[in-house]
Amino acid sequence: MNHWQVHLLLASFCVFSVLGQSSDGTTMSGGNTASAGGKYQPLPLHIPPFNVSDYSGINDDEQCMLYLEGLSVVVMDNLDKSNLKFAQIDIRAGDAEWDYAKDDVLCPTNFTQGPYKFTIRLKTTRELNGNSTDDSKTPAIRIASGTSFSFTISLNTTLDLFWKLGGAIVGSDPLQVQGLKDPFSTAGTMVAKSRVFSLETAGINGVYGRGWACSLTQAFWFNTGTDHYFIGIMLYNTQIQLTGINSTADANCKGCHYFMQQVDDCVGTFSPGSWMGIISALVMVAGLMFGYVMLQSVQTIDLFDDPKHKQIVINVRE
Ligand SMILES: *[C@@H]1O[C@H](CO)[C@@H](O)[C@H](O)[C@H]1NC(C)=O
Ligand SMILES: *[C@@H]1O[C@H](CO)[C@@H](O)[C@H](O)[C@H]1NC(C)=O
Ligand SMILES: *[C@@H]1O[C@H](CO)[C@@H](O)[C@H](O)[C@H]1NC(C)=O
Ligand SMILES: *[C@@H]1O[C@H](CO)[C@@H](O)[C@H](O)[C@H]1NC(C)=O
Ligand SMILES: *[C@@H]1O[C@H](CO)[C@@H](O)[C@H](O)[C@H]1NC(C)=O
Repeated sequence: MNHWQVHLLLASFCVFSVLGQSSDGTTMSGGNTASAGGKYQPLPLHIPPFNVSDYSGINDDEQCMLYLEGLSVVVMDNLDKSNLKFAQIDIRAGDAEWDYAKDDVLCPTNFTQGPYKFTIRLKTTRELNGNSTDDSKTPAIRIASGTSFSFTISLNTTLDLFWKLGGAIVGSDPLQVQGLKDPFSTAGTMVAKSRVFSLETAGINGVYGRGWACSLTQAFWFNTGTDHYFIGIMLYNTQIQLTGINSTADANCKGCHYFMQQVDDCVGTFSPGSWMGIISALVMVAGLMFGYVMLQSVQTIDLFDDPKHKQIVINVRE
């Protein structure tokens, strides 16, 4: 039964290497209305903007940090609840720039004094069009080039050392999305309003004292003031840590700020991707085992064996 054990071991190696792969993707390098500096920086955004020469007066003792590579903006028309309409615009590096104003980041040093706040300010650098789910040919929504907008997310702490998205409010320059094609054109220009919902289901939550990263969150939704039209915002490739980014202990890099190595991913270990890996690994291992067991059970024919027959003698010349 030894080879069975070897196979089991092999199978578990496969499974664990797949698991390891999926949890590896975790690490990514790294409502105020105060007027911003207008010194726009290329994405990715990181606030507080430590070591960005355009911004002065950053408190180097600040203990929290947000990193963000982009947003996905979704517009929903839920007039017909059984046939929801969506259109999406992806804002990625090159599509927008970010800015920072004093007090855009609120990092209480005492965890009980939450919420923690981050204000995200973006300005599009080109016209961004979004297609709807049922027509990928003609753009259904648009964010004009040069549109600047801001919103603030609040991360509420809970007494059991967790944090979660507890609020999202638009700034004095709310996001505006133009509807170009039915059903979005009837709404005209949709403006995000601060009545927000789906905070709890956006999946933005973590453990205090650990890092948190996400490749794409679920959307949290803003009202637009127009019935049954809503603007949702998803954070793309983001990382948040609420405490401990000040590396006082690092003698090689005094004054550096970076995320810790303990990072939780918003995608659980058993994501659809890892299941795909696990199942294909198991199928392959099953095939291997089947082949091996089949070969093991092959018996050579002994029908013509004649033990009484004179043995063949081979003379070896020296
Ligand atoms: C943050 O780092 C700076 C520079 O090393 C240090 O002076 C300061 O005390 C640190 N703050 C905290 C809260 O650790
Ligand atoms: C944090 O604040 C709470 C309430 O304000 C206080 O009881 C606690 O001692 C503070 N903790 C620290 C470490 O300052
Ligand atoms: C939207 O449609 C245009 C025109 O067909 C296409 O070029 C573009 O790639 C589409 N965008 C997305 C996000 O699918
Ligand atoms: C988060 O905290 C703020 C301020 O304490 C509060 O107004 C808000 O309702 C909280 N959000 C949630 C979801 O608990
Ligand atoms: C600031 O940035 C420069 C170059 O971008 C880098 O060489 C330097 O080490 C950074 N300083 C800190 C304290 O991170």
